[in-house]
Amino acid sequence: MYSLVERIPPHTARTDETYTMLAQQRSSLTPFPNGWYLASYSHLLPVGAVVPLKVCGHELVLFRAEDGKAHVKEAHCPHLGAHLGHGGKVEGGCIRCPFHGWKFDGESGACVQIPSGDRIPKAAKLRAFHVREVSGMVLVWYHERGAAPEYEVPPLPGIDEAGWSPWKRTTWTLDATIQDISENDADVCHSPAMHTITDDIPDLALGLVEGPVFTWNIKIKPSIAWMGLPSFVKLPEDMRTHVEVRRTGLGIGWIRATVDLPFGRSTRVQTLANTTPIDERTIRLDMLHRVRAAPLRPLTGLFLRGYALTFDTTVEEDIRVWENKVYLTRPAVSKSDWGIMRFRQWAKQFYSSSLPLVPDELATAAAGSD
Ligand code: FES
Ligand SMILES: [Fe+2]
Repeated sequence: MYSLVERIPPHTARTDETYTMLAQQRSSLTPFPNGWYLASYSHLLPVGAVVPLKVCGHELVLFRAEDGKAHVKEAHCPHLGAHLGHGGKVEGGCIRCPFHGWKFDGESGACVQIPSGDRIPKAAKLRAFHVREVSGMVLVWYHERGAAPEYEVPPLPGIDEAGWSPWKRTTWTLDATIQDISENDADVCHSPAMHTITDDIPDLALGLVEGPVFTWNIKIKPSIAWMGLPSFVKLPEDMRTHVEVRRTGLGIGWIRATVDLPFGRSTRVQTLANTTPIDERTIRLDMLHRVRAAPLRPLTGLFLRGYALTFDTTVEEDIRVWENKVYLTRPAVSKSDWGIMRFRQWAKQFYSSSLPLVPDELATAAAGSD
């Protein structure tokens, strides 16, 4: 069973006036890059479940039909506009509108029955969105121009492995851009400046980069303060946390870490980090954390709470920056920012109509300058 923790940190409310100003200044990017985004988790969507959803500015309804298939359709009934996510009912492979009872096919979205027996109007059809279930996630496809999926999401390596704690979940709703959030993986230089977990700039190395998958390998030297130890303690010089961050599109992050411990021991921790644009001003961050099961159950719980707290605190330190920064398409980068530029080159594939993320010559200069 998953343990659920909902934490919505307080953020300063913005007036519409300040938002208009920010919208002009903060980002020239398309607000919603193309890709697969988290709609729900498979275990939270039993047969018959009907859930209202908003993804990339679209009001949607997510439901699981009686044959076990998950569907996402536009939420508003073409008859008179009721929201199917609020009171809609699954019937076989269909969903029935709560207002006048029109029935829509789960696959095509076409109306298949009107209770009065009237002839079905041609326009009585719900727009259908592509859905996949991969590694426990129910994913919905968004494309700025309505195109069919341009890639598939490979299963997340290691997610089915036994011997892990239950997941611990944390979610945030924030005002940020998804590009800024995903670029943060590569931005190792901000870690000692902003995060208590380390006093040094982590080592960043490129891992697998293939189509929609981008992987970083990051080595972090943990700080004495973060480990709760007094400053005179000397940790072994080579003690590191080895992190692999794998992104599939900009939405799905799979973070696996091996944490060196004193006396030559180590343990492993993992976080599934989904980023979903809701509308032009709102992003949902949804994280599932887990740790290797310890021989004693209470110890596993203790370790899980500690890991989740460290991870979430780090995210909240970042949120303060993400919510207030601007996205610069021509940043004044230095050599150590090469990862950000490399990531931007890869991320271009998900934008249909934005301005270029970074001119190629700037990326080359960043990689080669002293
Ligand atoms: S609004 Fe859906 S059946 Fe009338
Ligand atoms: Fe960070």
